[in-house]
Amino acid sequence: MELSRIQTAAEKVRAALGEAELAIVLGSGLGSHVETLAEASSLPYAEIPGFPVSTAPGHAGRWWAGTLRGKRVYMLQGRFHYYEGYGLDEVTMYVRMMKLLGVKTLILTNAAGCVNTAWAPGDLMVVTDCINYSGKNPLIGPNLDAFGPRFPDMSEAYSRRLRALCAAEADKLGITLREGVYMWFSGPTYETPAEIRMARILGADAVGMSTVPETIVARHCGLEVLGISCLTNMAAGILDQPLNHREVEEVAGKAQTRFRALLDAVVAAMA
Ligand code: HPA
Repeated sequence: MELSRIQTAAEKVRAALGEAELAIVLGSGLGSHVETLAEASSLPYAEIPGFPVSTAPGHAGRWWAGTLRGKRVYMLQGRFHYYEGYGLDEVTMYVRMMKLLGVKTLILTNAAGCVNTAWAPGDLMVVTDCINYSGKNPLIGPNLDAFGPRFPDMSEAYSRRLRALCAAEADKLGITLREGVYMWFSGPTYETPAEIRMARILGADAVGMSTVPETIVARHCGLEVLGISCLTNMAAGILDQPLNHREVEEVAGKAQTRFRALLDAVVAAMA
């Protein structure tokens, strides 16, 4: 994607909402977290020139800005998934816009399937690392040198500092926080039981259909990333029952109070 398209879209957000240093992407079931923003204003994605339009149920499609614990924060209510048919450059366009808008730290939240059999649905997991199982990479194509290098380092994709901060805050709140590896499958099918056995052997604790492309683009342009998953269901084949999106949304909805408390504490504790 050309730099000019990203710049034009970013200018629209700047004019409507101003800049922010911190951004939080709200995954499935977490969209109502925008209620915690003070002095909130928002822009429908449809009004941002060149920006994709969100189609997934439970993803409202609004770019919010406001104050949270004294900090200027963006919240994205609704993200884009590769399975919706967008190119990965569109899926990750907002990350580069945020870079242009002054964002330094990106918190990515999501709903994910739980591969680790010692854990349970409703658990929250801080992402320690990820596996890009899609075979796709959002940085394929000409490198935009304005954002970062051709061969970006991924040895600390998820900030060690923020993981530790998140774990400490969870501890203070008495919230069980798992730590594990998130493996990205393109979706939209849920995985097969054989794929989940493979994922476990390969070192995954959770599987999901988002977050990894955004993390790659964020690391390319030097943003610090924190990933938090709500494990909404045991992954395919672990329990003798089919998976469905309603269950994912229900469990994410029930975990919301804890998830919100943790996010709030993390934002407050950030320097
Ligand atoms: N697999 C992939 N994505 C998901 C799942 C899952 O089991 N649950 C929520 N998002």
